[in-house]
Amino acid sequence: RTMDIICYLLVIVLLNIQAYETYSQCLSGCSCVEDRHGRSLICMEENAFGAIPDNLPDDMTKIRIEKSHFTEISRGAFSNTPALENLWLNFNDITVINSKALEGLGNLTELRLQGNKLRSVPWTAFEDAPALKILDLKHNQLDVLPEHALKFLPGLTYLDLSFNRLTVISKEVFINWPLYQKLQSTEERDATAFGPNVVLALHDNAWLCDCRLKGFVEFIRSLRPPIILMNSYLTCSGPDFKAGKFFHEVELQACVKPIVTTPFSNLSLPQGANITLRCLAKARPDPAVWWTYGLKIIRGFHVLTKSERVGEDTIRSLLVIPFLHAADRGIYTCTAVNFIGNYSVSILLDVQSPEGSQSSLLPGNPAPPPAASSENVYIDIRIAKQTVRGIIIEWYAALDRPAETWFTIHFGDVGTDKKEMVYIGPGIHSYSVSDLMPATKYEICVTLKNQIPRPGQCIVFVTGSDITEMEQREKLIHIVVIVLAMVLAVPIGMFACTTDTKFACLEGIMESWKNRQRERSSPRVERERQGTFDSLQATSDEGLVNKDSSEDRKVRRRENMKLTL
Ligand SMILES: *[C@@H]1O[C@H](CO)[C@@H](O)[C@H](O)[C@H]1NC(C)=O
Ligand SMILES: *[C@@H]1O[C@H](CO)[C@@H](O)[C@H](O)[C@H]1NC(C)=O
Ligand SMILES: *[C@@H]1O[C@H](CO)[C@@H](O)[C@H](O)[C@H]1NC(C)=O
Ligand SMILES: *[C@@H]1O[C@H](CO)[C@@H](O)[C@H](O)[C@H]1NC(C)=O
Repeated sequence: RTMDIICYLLVIVLLNIQAYETYSQCLSGCSCVEDRHGRSLICMEENAFGAIPDNLPDDMTKIRIEKSHFTEISRGAFSNTPALENLWLNFNDITVINSKALEGLGNLTELRLQGNKLRSVPWTAFEDAPALKILDLKHNQLDVLPEHALKFLPGLTYLDLSFNRLTVISKEVFINWPLYQKLQSTEERDATAFGPNVVLALHDNAWLCDCRLKGFVEFIRSLRPPIILMNSYLTCSGPDFKAGKFFHEVELQACVKPIVTTPFSNLSLPQGANITLRCLAKARPDPAVWWTYGLKIIRGFHVLTKSERVGEDTIRSLLVIPFLHAADRGIYTCTAVNFIGNYSVSILLDVQSPEGSQSSLLPGNPAPPPAASSENVYIDIRIAKQTVRGIIIEWYAALDRPAETWFTIHFGDVGTDKKEMVYIGPGIHSYSVSDLMPATKYEICVTLKNQIPRPGQCIVFVTGSDITEMEQREKLIHIVVIVLAMVLAVPIGMFACTTDTKFACLEGIMESWKNRQRERSSPRVERERQGTFDSLQATSDEGLVNKDSSEDRKVRRRENMKLTL
């Protein structure tokens, strides 16, 4: 009887040991299951791991870790589990897969990565998993599929790329796929003997049906069993006029570089007229189209540019110039660019002044004696503020018609003749220069309309030698004004700083300028006007100024994108 009890206890102890062993070989937060296919590790608990655990039991043939929100599959993450055949890592936050992540997984046949945040996949990683049959990348953020993507996936029978962000892929992706190559070389009648079907899921991507997708669309239409599409109704999501169309409805043509034409290339109009310059850009895919006037950037003008689609491959761009001035004459260029090339046409615009005489405001011709008194006005220019890598200048000019008078900024390295020129629209009285190089001598001039700079309209300054990054955050580049010759309106001596005098001098200048500014009677109007323009304002600080210009750029880029879409 006691033997019975001892036996009974022994059994319990043994059972416990066994249970303990089983438990110890599984991970907490997971369950381990064993069936005739082998052992499975299943971890479905929300946030069970912040990373793939490195103590995975080594005899697993199936691992399923979901909703753990780890972000990376690092190098050799599963090299301890060489028997692994099915790996499910759905609904995590994986953004990065190391190119050696599948090291040691020679028996892996199924990899599921649905619902992660992958923007790209290191396709060469599949070289380590030659047995892979099922690859599920559904509901990720893939936007490109490189041409070699399928090169190391010769045995796939199921590839799911649906619900990603693919826009344009080349058919070479599939031409380079060993499985497709094998199929192409197989005789028609042998196709049925090829083996299992191969299922591709490519639907619900952002397919951009322009000429770049031509090869792929043709490939899709040519697919025959054993390759089959899970959903054969692939739809275009762009360009706008093709959105929602099925692949089998669209006819795509080969890409071509832009050709730009203009109805009038030589125009002559009276002063004060309103004019719209036009150009037509034909290209595939859609080009970005813009206007330039000489090498100058037009800013803050009452100039409008508009682009409109007039045909599947044709965009019309308009440049509106109201109230022609003599100074508006010149060569206007319309340029169109797509990834194949660019093309420009020029329009020569002549403006007849009312008296019938040619205006002499073009650079090179000195202005005539003050017929219009504002042409000869003095411009009071100063550095209003230093920013981390730049300056903001302000100027003041007593103008007869401030609402119509515009300025040109001439800016550049004193050592070179090449000056950047920026047009500034009426009512704007400040301009910021950024990205100054250290230890460089610059000159910046403000002129009325497009007059050439005269000595009194320029500031020459030198930037300090470079400073460490740490300092940069707190300090400003030391800018030393070496020539700042104001004309008449202010006592010359006050502005004659040399390289030896530093901030004290500059501050003195600014102080006196401010005082003068306060005494002025008119500036209030000017200030208010200033506020109505989108351009740089004297009161804006570094952050705002930068934001302005980057915002500018963003807008421009957005326009370009709109055009290329
Ligand atoms: C891989 O699979 C083969 C065939 O099923 C098997 O013989 C081999 O042991 C497996 N390799 C590992 C590391 O489990
Ligand atoms: C433009 O037209 C004017 C006359 O209208 C002519 O004198 C001038 O040579 C033309 N210029 C070009 C480049 O064709
Ligand atoms: C130019 O356009 C403005 C309004 O946009 C209009 O007031 C003006 O009369 C036009 N001038 C000419 C010469 O057509
Ligand atoms: C236009 O194409 C020429 C070469 O054909 C190239 O040198 C130039 O940089 C291109 N311009 C733009 C704006 O892409």
